[in-house]
Amino acid sequence: MKPLSEAILNSQKSAIRKLFELLLKSSDGISFGIGQPDFTSPDFVNNEIIKALKEHKTQYAPALGLPTLRRVVAQKFQNENKIKLADTENIIITNGGSQALQLCFASLSNPGDEVILSSPNFLSYIYLASYYHLKLVEVPRLGNYAPDLEGIRKAVTPKTKFIIINSPNNPTGNVFTKKQMDELVQIVLENDLYLVSDEVYEKFLYENRKHISPASYDEMFERTLTLNALSKTFGATGLRLGYIAANQDIIKLMEKYGQYTTAGVNHPTQYGAIEALVKGNPEIPQVIQQYNKKRLFVVKRLKELQFEVIEPYGAFYIMPKLNPKWNMTSEEFSNNLVKEEHVACVPGNSFGSYSNDSLRISYATTDELLEEGFNRIERFLKRKKMI
Ligand SMILES: Cc1ncc(COP(=O)(O)O)c(C=O)c1O
Repeated sequence: MKPLSEAILNSQKSAIRKLFELLLKSSDGISFGIGQPDFTSPDFVNNEIIKALKEHKTQYAPALGLPTLRRVVAQKFQNENKIKLADTENIIITNGGSQALQLCFASLSNPGDEVILSSPNFLSYIYLASYYHLKLVEVPRLGNYAPDLEGIRKAVTPKTKFIIINSPNNPTGNVFTKKQMDELVQIVLENDLYLVSDEVYEKFLYENRKHISPASYDEMFERTLTLNALSKTFGATGLRLGYIAANQDIIKLMEKYGQYTTAGVNHPTQYGAIEALVKGNPEIPQVIQQYNKKRLFVVKRLKELQFEVIEPYGAFYIMPKLNPKWNMTSEEFSNNLVKEEHVACVPGNSFGSYSNDSLRISYATTDELLEEGFNRIERFLKRKKMI
């Protein structure tokens, strides 16, 4: 038989899914691999979806999304993200942040173009680059996981089409400062590039960090594709509702691509999304308070257990480095830990070429499971005489 798609064959099955499968085999498994908050979507959102279903809103929705939802999204970008130029015509509704990312890659890419990102980074970017036949240029993050802006500047070539950023970041928890964003904006403008800004963790910030949308710089609006989703802010990963702001030429391409690939987004869910974005999630301040406590607990425990800790200021992940004296790769560590103690952490090498010395731990879980999980990690390290 003739060969199947090389780009897809060559991409790994998600390490996170693999871990889940391993963990499901044990009855007492604890997962620190989860990429979703431990709360679910509010009733005021769910009720609007139920109402839409009862009203039989089950036919195709417009390819760009419901006009009212697009208007509400534009207002959200204007009010919350200071993206003054975002208007209803600049918005498309998507099947979660994931399809938003796919549409960004699809609308910007020609085979052979180059995309630059800080590494480690969200794993979908790596595979989307290969699905769209792009050359992926990974610029290693600095020791504190900040973006290496000088490195990014040097990595630009005539073939560079866009840079993709994710702040607050999965997996490192890094958050762009204003100074870093100013510098990135300069690089994008000087080199006539596009910028994809994945802002799905915008609400998860600690220690007074502030979220900055690069499209809020007026000169950047035309060349920035800003994406977001209900998934993390509203505990709604299963609703599959995302959205993008971009210039109208890009939105038109996305509309066409969407028509032939997904033919729109779940119709009833879009009514829930209107309600969600008009009201916001009133639980967020309380969630952030709780997650901050979990974050501090995890930092403390990891330090006690002799990991190298780079404190995260956003999202709900931490990416500690394995102690070099343990002489273990991230995959060896996480495989042994799952087998021996039924605790799942994602190996760092799932997030790019420069993080095989680290693990990603999600602390979006209960205090009890965090405590028990870290007790097991301690037992594992002591048994192996690593501490
Ligand atoms: C950085 C980042 N972008 C996008 C997504 C995808 O979001 P969604 O679940 O809305 O598809 C995720 C999900 O984990 C993510 O971590």
